[in-house]
Amino acid sequence: MSQLNTKARIGLIGLGVMGANLSLNIAEKGFPIAVFNRTGSVTDEFIAESGDLRDALVPTKTYEELVAALDSPRAVIIMVKAGGPVDAVIDALVPLLEEGDMIIDAGNADFHDTRRREAALREQGLNFIGMGVSGGEEGARHGPSIMVGGNPASYETIRDIIEAISAKHEGDPCAAHFGPDGAGHFVKTVHNGIEYADMQMIAEIYGLLRDGAHQAPDEIGALFERWNKGPLNSYLVEISGKVLQAYDPATGKPMVEVIVDKAGQKGTGRWTAIEALTLGQSPSTIEAAVAARSWSSEKETRLVGAEIFGTEPEFRPTLPKESDFEEALLVAKLVAYDQGFKLLKAASDHYDWGLDLARAAEVWREGCIIRSALLDDMAAAIRSGLPQDQLIFSPDFIAHVKGGLSALRRVVSYATSAGLPVPALSNALAYFDTMRQGRGTTDLIQAQRDFFGAHGFERTDGGEGKHGPWHA
Ligand code: 6PG
Repeated sequence: MSQLNTKARIGLIGLGVMGANLSLNIAEKGFPIAVFNRTGSVTDEFIAESGDLRDALVPTKTYEELVAALDSPRAVIIMVKAGGPVDAVIDALVPLLEEGDMIIDAGNADFHDTRRREAALREQGLNFIGMGVSGGEEGARHGPSIMVGGNPASYETIRDIIEAISAKHEGDPCAAHFGPDGAGHFVKTVHNGIEYADMQMIAEIYGLLRDGAHQAPDEIGALFERWNKGPLNSYLVEISGKVLQAYDPATGKPMVEVIVDKAGQKGTGRWTAIEALTLGQSPSTIEAAVAARSWSSEKETRLVGAEIFGTEPEFRPTLPKESDFEEALLVAKLVAYDQGFKLLKAASDHYDWGLDLARAAEVWREGCIIRSALLDDMAAAIRSGLPQDQLIFSPDFIAHVKGGLSALRRVVSYATSAGLPVPALSNALAYFDTMRQGRGTTDLIQAQRDFFGAHGFERTDGGEGKHGPWHA
């Protein structure tokens, strides 16, 4: 046991990479923390490697020991795999807790699960906080971005800990309470949706430079490194630059060339798209990014396709300028954020969460995977009010959009002619072109629906009659 005489302020269950790093972060900020892992040897190893932080850690070997080590009201963070394992831990903990105690799920939970768990625990007099944590291993250890949902009064009792461990933007904690029950986990889910779109767009630009401009990985990496010093400055552009300039120690080849082009996904991007569709939204860049990951896993099919059709383009279009790629990526990225914020607004209205979208942009400025220099301006633009909930309509961004639009159009046209897939970039453009088309083409869809199903339509002149003369 530790040399602590007093009880621990907080507990944590699940000493995997994220849980272990979060525990060390909490201990380092001066909050005594009791830790527990299902496999006891993992706890022993964790404690053995905790160095100077050992005194702030209380290792425990059973749920009973963990609960007994905590100050009242008790607060326990769960950091285990999302889904069934979270329910199993809750079931084991609940009989040991007392009214007013709190369970905090810090995993990437489906916010519907968080809503269900919060309601069930509330019935039993317990508080449940759904807390999205972004920033990977490094963030968990030194300062993640944290998105909280649940009872605001119970969050107040741990706010000092959460703000202390979070990343800071010019001293402002990148942690906030967003609303009741699943609000925090939903903000984290949409963060991940934007993360998918951003990663996909960067990968598409890499593809165009690789297969269109025939640039070597380290050349593209160096270009990304330069872009990272300009308006595209962001964590994802930075790490992409580093990844592309890395070499495989075993073969000496560029690292990216020894990695199979099949992307995994744990679910948050897909949940963003599913929830959006349920709410009548369509964040096309995020949907495209989710689809691109699914298509990527069909490697065998793609190889057969390449065999049948070849990969030589029917046309040999002119390659856009290097600066076009940079500007195109910037505009497309704005569209992805626009769609993410619009979805947050739609969910907030639907679930009556009262989400502060500007605060979400602020919380994402540091610590998280989508951190980017643009987020500060986005937060300011959202605070001054978005016309039609569209970030790209904001007076602060109109010039950016107009400035980069022709570049995005040249890049997408080039890719289409060259036979190189750019699903996220082209969906950003399709969305933009749709959102500035005052008169669209669904007048014909309405007529078709009325023709075969008498579904009716609204007349442009406000006149009487909502059916056409189709079957007269
Ligand atoms: C973060 C990341 C993190 C994780 C993703 C990866 O914000 O720190 O989003 O949560 O890396 O869940 O998700 P996929 O496996 O679905 O790409």
